[in-house]
Amino acid sequence: MKGTELQDVWTDIPPISAQSAERLGYPTQKPEALLERIIAASSNEGDLVLDPFCGCGTTVAVAERLKRRWIGIDITHLAITLMRHRLNNAFGNELLPYEIIGDPKDLESARALAKESEHEGRYQFEWWALGLVDARPAQDKRKGADRGVDGYINFFDDNSGKAKSIIVQVKSGGVKRGDIATLKGDMEREKAPIAILITLEEPTRPMLEEAVTADFYEPERFPGYKYPRLQILTVRELLEGKEAQYPRMAPPATFKRAQRHRRTAEQGRLEGNS
Ligand SMILES: C[S@@+](CC[C@H](N)C(=O)[O-])C[C@H]1O[C@@H](n2cnc3c(N)ncnc32)[C@H](O)[C@@H]1O
Repeated sequence: MKGTELQDVWTDIPPISAQSAERLGYPTQKPEALLERIIAASSNEGDLVLDPFCGCGTTVAVAERLKRRWIGIDITHLAITLMRHRLNNAFGNELLPYEIIGDPKDLESARALAKESEHEGRYQFEWWALGLVDARPAQDKRKGADRGVDGYINFFDDNSGKAKSIIVQVKSGGVKRGDIATLKGDMEREKAPIAILITLEEPTRPMLEEAVTADFYEPERFPGYKYPRLQILTVRELLEGKEAQYPRMAPPATFKRAQRHRRTAEQGRLEGNS
């Protein structure tokens, strides 16, 4: 039977609920079904889709799936970090190459970002730096800051189905031995197997010595593997390609995984299903 044509107000697509499978935790995330209808109804395969306020990247992910080319713009590094992972999780190896423009690619621009974001509590620098180790920014910033945790990296190294969390702290100012001792305390309190400090400034020798006293994390199921429990990584090292050390035996679990998608080309029509 022929349905009714869609009207100006669309009520048949529910918003993202707390239980929704596609929910990634970005406060203003829109449902993929909504963007799918808009993109399918107004473009063809190969067309270019622009979302200049793209948040956690719903438009970008749907455009990719529907074989459109796309440009996404967002003003915050939080959105960029989430979007990168959404695309990786949703398309994996099938993801076509894309470029991130405007994020720091060298130490000088990292310093500039740290300076620029000083007036807003350095969050932009922090979100960007967390992205360097694929960490998920702590959701409740006030609480996170109180507890000395800026972000988390989750990983699996057993069969329990429960992820383990690495705590990550970012520092863009001067750092000293006491910061490492404090992070060590945070790690114990959070019962985290590993803690990582990302620092813009180079660590001092006493800091490195303090870090070594935290010993190694040795996963029970993988005898012979060991990872320093307290790792100091400079922004310079990360930009040069150095990586955090932790068990990578299973797929990373840091971000709530976007549902896996196959790419399909579609051109829709503005018809509801009522
Ligand atoms: C309503 S949200 C978009 C949500 C998106 N549709 C989704 O599904 O995740 C609006 C976004 O615009 C971004 N924004 C605000 N001002 C901006 C600006 N001047 N330039 C680019 N992005 C901006 C915000 O950071 C926010 O992520």
